[in-house]
Amino acid sequence: MAKAEQLNDLLARLDKKRLPAHIAIIMDGNGRWATRRHLPRSAGHKAGMEALRQAVELCSEIGIHILTVYAFSTENWRRPADEVGFLMRLFIQYLEGEVALMNEQGIRLGFLGSREALPAAVLLALAQAQKSTAQNERMLLNIAVNYGGRDELARAIRSLALKVRDGQFSPEHINEQVIGAALDTAGAPDPELMIRTSGELRISNFLIWQAAYSELYFSDKLWPDFNKRDLLTAILDFQGRNRRFGRTEQQMAKD
Ligand code: IPE
Ligand code: IPE
Ligand code: MG
Repeated sequence: MAKAEQLNDLLARLDKKRLPAHIAIIMDGNGRWATRRHLPRSAGHKAGMEALRQAVELCSEIGIHILTVYAFSTENWRRPADEVGFLMRLFIQYLEGEVALMNEQGIRLGFLGSREALPAAVLLALAQAQKSTAQNERMLLNIAVNYGGRDELARAIRSLALKVRDGQFSPEHINEQVIGAALDTAGAPDPELMIRTSGELRISNFLIWQAAYSELYFSDKLWPDFNKRDLLTAILDFQGRNRRFGRTEQQMAKD
């Protein structure tokens, strides 16, 4: 009961008119969460899936338009094969198990990352989940799997170079908008808020272009422990920030 009241207290403080349109989360700390409980790392990843469910639910409830979560990086292939295999199976399980709820909550599934190197079963589950949720309009949930910001930029630059080579446009037309439109997040606003759990103070190759002006929020909580109240606390912290985008404080006061 006390918990529910606390959530309501936080909700009451939320300025609905100044919500971030796009939140990005680096869901970190699953392994440590499990190890502290003398459990295999896989148990941490499972618990992390439940935390994701809570985060998605809260974002759709309060009216966040886009939630982008980092689930597996291009660097995570360096982990032991059994952990990589478990994560791929868990991802399939999440996609298959979540579609009904996503349709209920009006959530469309998006994907960030390179499809190359992903197992066929993952690609199939992904395609099915995307197809089945394509008409939903309340919120976009982007899952970043086999995603790296540098890889994304390399793929974008390659696609632009091919267009130049084929005479579709000239190098002079390459600007920030053109690059943004060639990224996996094409068409979406940049995340105003980027959250990382587990106390690590780095972005680990996540959205390196799009996060140029994101407000960063670091939580010491491990991802499976990060609950709706923690997410609301992060959003409230964001609402207290002074975003100047290069201008002076005096200029901001006049606007
Ligand atoms: C985040 O948790 C999930 C993935 C990177 C797949 P970790 O697995 O990195 O957990 P820690 O950082 O080892 O505790
Ligand atoms: C970042 O976490 C990637 C995901 C959360 C999917 P990592 O645990 O892989 O990052 P590092 O290795 O601590 O930088
Ligand atoms: Mg980690």
